[in-house]
Amino acid sequence: MRVKIGTSTDFPESTLVSVTGDGINILAVRINGSVYAVHALCPHLNLSLRNGTLEGHVITCPWHGSKFDIRTGKNLDWVQGIGGFKMPGWSRALIALGKEPTPLTTYPVSEENGQVFVELPKRPG
Ligand code: FES
Repeated sequence: MRVKIGTSTDFPESTLVSVTGDGINILAVRINGSVYAVHALCPHLNLSLRNGTLEGHVITCPWHGSKFDIRTGKNLDWVQGIGGFKMPGWSRALIALGKEPTPLTTYPVSEENGQVFVELPKRPG
């Protein structure tokens, strides 16, 4: 399902923007001219990535420091610590609560005539 999430000017370079499409919370960001969209909740504990840190194409979760490539959703690091403080390996495993590294959901973006769209999965039913 193709859903409009805004106009081109709504997505300035390197700025995380919260949008909603078909009831799904999405974070979108323009990087080097292209807009990327990801699910707004971290796959670790489903907490918001809205206040995450963006460095280049990498977003870091503000809760436990997992890192994802915003272009592909690939998990680059999983549960580093709490509140920006890195933890040793054994405690990282505790904080992970048994959850295995999981990629971040991405949504294909298209930009046409100043309008920005995402392709969302069709909902069952
Ligand atoms: S909720 Fe994102 S790393 Fe824990």
